[in-house]
Amino acid sequence: MKVAVTGTPGVGKTSACALITRMRIVHVNDLVDELGLVSGYDRARRTKEVDVPKLAKAVAKMEGDMLLEGHFSHLLGPDLAIVLRCSPAVLEKRLKKKGWSDKKIRENVEAEAVDVALIEAIENVSDVCEIDTTKMKPSQVARAIESILAGERQKYRVGNVDWSEEVLGWY
Ligand SMILES: Nc1ncnc2c1ncn2[C@@H]1O[C@H](COP(=O)(O)OP(=O)(O)O)[C@@H](O)[C@H]1O
Ligand SMILES: [Mg+2]
Repeated sequence: MKVAVTGTPGVGKTSACALITRMRIVHVNDLVDELGLVSGYDRARRTKEVDVPKLAKAVAKMEGDMLLEGHFSHLLGPDLAIVLRCSPAVLEKRLKKKGWSDKKIRENVEAEAVDVALIEAIENVSDVCEIDTTKMKPSQVARAIESILAGERQKYRVGNVDWSEEVLGWY
């Protein structure tokens, strides 16, 4: 089974997956570099452009169980997508700490506020769960991912996370 661990940049995908030992972890960013699938560079946004269809084909050929860790891993044909979520206000703090530019922080905080990763996951993957990491340590997020893999779904069903109150507070 292929499981995507996805979510807005800064939610803690890499930190949580670093603490998971029971499954092979494939970091999508590393795979992109290994396979040379960078198709361009967006100077304005300072991000790599990736040939996603080619990457999805390469992933389809990979055998065995694995966690695909990355912010577009839900586009790579997983059987299950686990979307990590983080309150926009806390995400802003995490990204500031990482030293990101105001523009990039705003872009990602807004994407989290309106559920971009979750909606994309629902549109592309038949089985989707979401974990609110706002008050969790990376080790707790890792345990939550493991409990989903062990079959716990109810607690993490789609719709258990809702930023609408927080977002309405912006106006
Ligand atoms: N659960 C957490 N609680 C608090 N801070 C976290 C948590 N997970 C990650 N961080 C911090 O937030 C930043 C982004 O984490 P990272 O794992 O790189 O996110 P992603 O891989 O989703 O972009 C890092 O500085 C990290 O130390
Ligand atoms: Mg990461």
